[in-house]
Amino acid sequence: MMTGNNGNAPILSVVSDMASVDRIIREQLHSDVALINQIGEYIVNAGGKRIRPSLLLLFAKALGYSGEHHHTLAAMIELIHTSTLLHDDVVDESSLRRGQPTANALFGNAASVLVGDFIYTRTFQMMLAVENMRIMHIMANATNIIAEGEVMQLMSLRDASVTEAQYMQVIHAKTAALFEAATTIGALIAGAPEPTITAAAEYGKQFGIAFQLVDDALDYTGNADDIGKSLGDDLREGKMTLPLIRLMQTGTDKQAQLVRQCIENGNNDNFDAIVEALSSSDSIQYARGLAQHAAQAAARAITPLPHSQFKETLLELAAFAADRNH
Ligand code: IPE
Ligand code: IPE
Ligand code: MG
Ligand code: MG
Repeated sequence: MMTGNNGNAPILSVVSDMASVDRIIREQLHSDVALINQIGEYIVNAGGKRIRPSLLLLFAKALGYSGEHHHTLAAMIELIHTSTLLHDDVVDESSLRRGQPTANALFGNAASVLVGDFIYTRTFQMMLAVENMRIMHIMANATNIIAEGEVMQLMSLRDASVTEAQYMQVIHAKTAALFEAATTIGALIAGAPEPTITAAAEYGKQFGIAFQLVDDALDYTGNADDIGKSLGDDLREGKMTLPLIRLMQTGTDKQAQLVRQCIENGNNDNFDAIVEALSSSDSIQYARGLAQHAAQAAARAITPLPHSQFKETLLELAAFAADRNH
């Protein structure tokens, strides 16, 4: 379904819109400063699923939008995502993204952070061009919450006592907030009534939760070629995600001890043993089950939307968020 070059096919109902979005993304990355072009093009050319801008476009179109701001706003959302990836890979010391070496691995941490800042601030210039105060509000809040989520997560690294509730709070902030902003803006620009805007927001939030739950499962059980990232990044960092939280709760004393030790040490030495312990437990199914649950809540939220191919795609994408392996 998707776009890009790591095995992602385009989302058909917005394929031509997405071509315009990609053009805007490239234009907006342009700068007279060569390193900005270089890193910007590097990460954008690597592909990615373009899922957040797709959701914005799908909501706008499902609700009958006929204006001209949807492409700019979809590009803005994808660029915010792009800047968070540049920052995230520095913070996580990740070496692979979208099937290629990360920007930090290739250009260094300082360059990644600073170009991430360029892209991030560019998005505020893009938003200003749309002259919609409510969109400014939504994005100011969303970006602030994302940063809060990242800091919350940082504070709980190497802490094996992180609870499921704390974990849910982090993924809601660091990931679901941007999905929620994207879907809310899609409905808002279409001039949808308030209850419909709320429904779109709920879809985005639940979608984002499902999406990150699965991302965290794939960090243990995925295939590096399919996800375009290295496995085991979370364990190496000492990041307690749901599969490990569940294993601590339901596994044997020995397994709980293993998790604690790995998280407190913050290295990948026992990755294989952890994967084996996970597969002998229900931890991955549990995380996937919660993702299914969130995806179903997303689908339920848009029941009142009128029937259209765009709504159908939104329903298919909700299922994809929970079932995906890439
Ligand atoms: C990666 O997002 C970061 C998470 C929130 C899990 P995506 O999986 O959407 O990354 P790309 O854009 O497709 O590379
Ligand atoms: C997503 O979390 C962080 C962002 C919101 C950018 P991860 O750290 O799990 O994302 P990946 O696995 O690096 O894509
Ligand atoms: Mg990361
Ligand atoms: Mg991850």
